[in-house]
Amino acid sequence: MFKKGLFTIAFAFFALVSIQADVEIYTVKSPDNKIEVTIGTANDNPFYSVAKNGMILIQPSALGFAIMGELSDLSTNLEIINIQRSSFNETWEQPWGESRFVENKYNELTISFQAKENHNRQFNVVFRAFNDGIGFRYEFPHQEQMDYFIITDEKTEFKINGNPTVWWYPSHAENSYGESLYRNTPISDIAEDKAFKNHTDGYNAGTAFKTFDNIDKNTYGAAVWSTSMMPITVATPIAVDMKDGSFLAIHEANLTDFASMTLTPTDNNTLKSELVPWSNGVKVYVETPAVTPWRTIIIADKLGDLVHSRLMLNLNEPNVIEDVSWIKPMKYVGIWWGMHIKKYTWEMGPNHGATTENTMRYMDFAAKHGFGGVLVEGWNYGWENHKYDYDGNWFSFTRPYPDFDMEKITKYGYSKGVQLIGHHETYGAVRNYEMQMIDGYKLYQSLGMNSLKSGYVKQHFDKIEWHDGQYGVRHYRHALEEAAKYQLAINVHEPVKQTGIRRTYPNLMTQEGARGQEFNAWDRGGGNPPSHTTILPFTRILGGPMDYTPGIFNFDIPHPLARVQSTLANQLALYVVLYSPLQMACDLPENYEKNLKPFQFIKDVPTDWQETKVLNAELGKYVTIARKDRNSENWYIGSITNEDARELTVALDFLTPDAKYEAQIYADGPKADFRTNPTDCVIRKMNVNSETVLNIKLAAAGGQAIRIVKK
Ligand code: NOJ
Repeated sequence: MFKKGLFTIAFAFFALVSIQADVEIYTVKSPDNKIEVTIGTANDNPFYSVAKNGMILIQPSALGFAIMGELSDLSTNLEIINIQRSSFNETWEQPWGESRFVENKYNELTISFQAKENHNRQFNVVFRAFNDGIGFRYEFPHQEQMDYFIITDEKTEFKINGNPTVWWYPSHAENSYGESLYRNTPISDIAEDKAFKNHTDGYNAGTAFKTFDNIDKNTYGAAVWSTSMMPITVATPIAVDMKDGSFLAIHEANLTDFASMTLTPTDNNTLKSELVPWSNGVKVYVETPAVTPWRTIIIADKLGDLVHSRLMLNLNEPNVIEDVSWIKPMKYVGIWWGMHIKKYTWEMGPNHGATTENTMRYMDFAAKHGFGGVLVEGWNYGWENHKYDYDGNWFSFTRPYPDFDMEKITKYGYSKGVQLIGHHETYGAVRNYEMQMIDGYKLYQSLGMNSLKSGYVKQHFDKIEWHDGQYGVRHYRHALEEAAKYQLAINVHEPVKQTGIRRTYPNLMTQEGARGQEFNAWDRGGGNPPSHTTILPFTRILGGPMDYTPGIFNFDIPHPLARVQSTLANQLALYVVLYSPLQMACDLPENYEKNLKPFQFIKDVPTDWQETKVLNAELGKYVTIARKDRNSENWYIGSITNEDARELTVALDFLTPDAKYEAQIYADGPKADFRTNPTDCVIRKMNVNSETVLNIKLAAAGGQAIRIVKK
């Protein structure tokens, strides 16, 4: 559809912008015709809007960029010089995932804009309309007048209709890798919200935030100061509750050689793209031809459909790794929680965790109970300095401590079918890491290892750059691509957010990038509140899998203030609720050995799925998810609640009709209470079929885990 001419913008869903404007518009619809995107220019300003079933969701919102230099505005004074349409439809298979097959079906519209005066610079905006949402990205074709340029601002807006409630957290408030608690506010209140305002006021007043690194301005210069002073913005993915049962999720896909998009609340319920800068203030260095990441909006008729959407993956390029046989979803244990609760130390000493003997003990445990790997942290030189003012440059990625015999350990593991999972903690010293990274990878490969956890604890990379600016994004990609060459699957902690890159590089298996279980070992604020894990599936995990590390069985945390605010049954249910192809059983082997009955669920639950269904959910309150094993006819259900006890009914109508199943149920016991009696868990069995309706009773911060075995 195309309209051109002088209009008062008041046609059907534009009623909200009633200005006289010279308008040229085009539309593209989803294959089922329900979603319609309108793109065009109004008085030479580019904009887009989105509607579903005739109801406007995103009002006319700005597009474009500001770039460095004269005539630098690429968001006004533009004309449309070309349009192009296409359609696509395929179903592809994931090597591993939360569902085996993915439908990728969309209609595409590309609009080419040219600056009327601004050196006739050109760029395209490509819109894809899927049945489950939309994505759009900018393309910069090669042009002499735009050979190499610098983006100083992205103008993209999301002007959301009405004033819906958003689930969000402030980016860069506590750290730059997403370990904040979610907030739930109307859009109009974000800017005034305490979590946002305290930090923004600090920014405006020019004072450092209390949680920022203590950077010495004189040593590192004003550039560093400006980096530290990035305003607090809203991190994505955000979930938007449209208040009629439907939800939107705004995020980005395929973040490649660009800065992360965060969002700044502006007027009229608008969220505007705010790219994370380099330390010198530049947002992105671009060499044409180039494309930006996709700006994505999942549009879900009900909350659960956010989780069913595969839009994020569809907007990434297909897998480039030919042989994926070495990339294996698995469960693992590790010398890890012991350090967080201070039973062990990372550095060598009397309580060193990563000793040969201890690792072999963990390997025995892993082999006995069917775990694929043993993660070991603190195996390498460098940790001994981490007590001091530490910058990460001390780490060696090739020199094990003398009490850790890597060769003996890996051979021992190999004989038992258990692999050693290597650890690379960089402390954000990326230059130090990149100098040694390949040698570190080669060492692991030479020992037959193909799984690696990396870590980037530190407010900045190399003291001055954000994790999620272009510098950080480039590093993470480089590390991932090189890891693929050495057949290493990686699990990144303190990562840049997930944007579906795992489709292209399936060796990017899982990541942190949100508050995980570790907070429950040492957080002075009391650990993760019970609602946290009910929010993650509809926010952070929409980007991709999360290494939350569930499985606490011993709730006596030595830290005086930290707690695990959940019941044991809740910990079991997290294996189904929080998707990850690598799932850790994070507690100490001795705590599992004492509780073998509930441990059976962790032993049984798979980490690779044929399909996934959200059975019920209210954001921040409860969620029940069912997943079918990719390698059998068995189903698994996980149900969790926040601090309120509740009862839910769940129909098993997704089971094969006429087939018989046995349900093995791990439920909160009658006395279960996350404050006083978290381990009360009852296990029972019952026969079920597709007509069964289960009554799921959850204690406060409780859960239920169910294995449904086909007879
Ligand atoms: C933070 C990571 O999230 C955690 O898993 C790891 O144990 C520590 N850093 C040390 O590297």
